[in-house]
Amino acid sequence: MPRASLLVIDDEPNILTTVKRALELEGFAVEVAGSAAAGLTKLAEHDIDLVLLDVMMPGETGLEVLPRLRAAHPDVSVVMMSGNATIETAVQATRLGAKDFIEKPLSGDKLLLTVQNILELARLSREHERLRAKARAEFAMVGRSAAMRAIFDKVGKTAPSQGRVLITGENGTGKELVARAIHDHSRRADGPFIKLNCAAIPAELIESELFGHEKGAFTGAVQQRRGKFELADGGTLFLDEVGDMNPSAQAKVLRVLQEGELERVGGSETLKVDVRVIAATNKDLQAEIAAGRFREDLYYRLAVVPIELPPLRGRREDIPALVEHFLGQVCADNDRKAKRVAAGAMTLLMQHDWPGNVRELKNVVERLVILTGDAEVISESDVADALPRVKPVKGGFARGTPFKDLVAAAERDIILAALEANDHHVSNTARELQLERSHLYKKMRALGIDHRADEAD
Ligand SMILES: Nc1ncnc2c1ncn2[C@@H]1O[C@H](COP(=O)(O)OP(=O)(O)OP(=O)(O)O)[C@@H](O)[C@H]1O
Ligand SMILES: [Mg+2]
Repeated sequence: MPRASLLVIDDEPNILTTVKRALELEGFAVEVAGSAAAGLTKLAEHDIDLVLLDVMMPGETGLEVLPRLRAAHPDVSVVMMSGNATIETAVQATRLGAKDFIEKPLSGDKLLLTVQNILELARLSREHERLRAKARAEFAMVGRSAAMRAIFDKVGKTAPSQGRVLITGENGTGKELVARAIHDHSRRADGPFIKLNCAAIPAELIESELFGHEKGAFTGAVQQRRGKFELADGGTLFLDEVGDMNPSAQAKVLRVLQEGELERVGGSETLKVDVRVIAATNKDLQAEIAAGRFREDLYYRLAVVPIELPPLRGRREDIPALVEHFLGQVCADNDRKAKRVAAGAMTLLMQHDWPGNVRELKNVVERLVILTGDAEVISESDVADALPRVKPVKGGFARGTPFKDLVAAAERDIILAALEANDHHVSNTARELQLERSHLYKKMRALGIDHRADEAD
């Protein structure tokens, strides 16, 4: 860490010398000034982190200069020092933005402790601001196509209401991002945003996930646990992949939505909750209803405001802005210099079909940043190499190989290519191949294909 720079402003020369010496011994860089005016000059000349400012000085006093100092250097922390401090001066100094107040005669230990604490506070608040900015950038939605502008408009109108929202769209089109945007712009923004992926949870556990359970409700329920509905009280519950919820959980969710109350699994107490539900699915719920797999009454409860996200290939004019957005984000995250995309490279990116939509685009940009190393420009051939191509199945006949081995080799090729195209997301791969996920897993095991454990969320 670079050493912190301090500035001491005091009219007493011996205070300046002793404080300077004491703090320099602790490794700080220390400037001194004998008056408020000299202090302002030093501040303009040096990069100062913290000012120790005397209250009583001939000419302009510390309290008088404080507002100007704060206005000109809002990032500099100020600690006041005074020999005859009254509570009122301390209160006034705090109101004017001083971070702390120490009394004279100064004790070396107290001075050092105060300086260290205030510097740490400033560091934490910078870190906090950085993380907030990062979170804002991560959840920012990019898009200027007419289709996306219509989505933003709908989000803006829906967010402040209490209306339930059903978000549909292919994988990676930004359903979760829309759910978060609605929450963030709602009156519940300060409340929790709780997400439940209905597809990732075994049927027998989903009720306990949603409603919680009492100790001993079933084998393995060693202690009482609150469910997602309870955790989301006062906020938003995001039911992701809602089309994969089992019928008995559907019935119970319907009841919570109708009555706003629930019981934990194995419990008798009825709990009231105030939760706004936002649901998302990439399934065609009308078809699920027709097939008897999804309750129609639940559908109408959830889809008060339906929002359908268009696939990326249907709004290719968004691609350049998305590429720039992810490029900035990935370069910053990896401490890389900003990169540029050559015109031909952008054309290729715009022509690609993006079956994995925005998520796939984001992954490709990340891959490009990593693979192009220090190069400043991402070229057409970089893009051609980075785009996942579904490999054609080779004719694959080899003399003397039994038919079943040839078929297995072809299956392996297909599954590897499909996994690659789906960024190794097994559920999504299964969906694209129209296989049961468990069946795909079985095949992968049989064919010796590893899968990365990125299914958790
Ligand atoms: N319009 C957009 N602007 C910026 N980033 C986006 C946009 N749409 C999606 N993303 C990013 O793409 C990724 C996928 O988005 P998200 O998780 O919201 O998609 P999804 O529709 O929920 O996908 P899935 O159905 O696979 O769960 C995320 O990293 C998200 O930040
Ligand atoms: Mg999602």
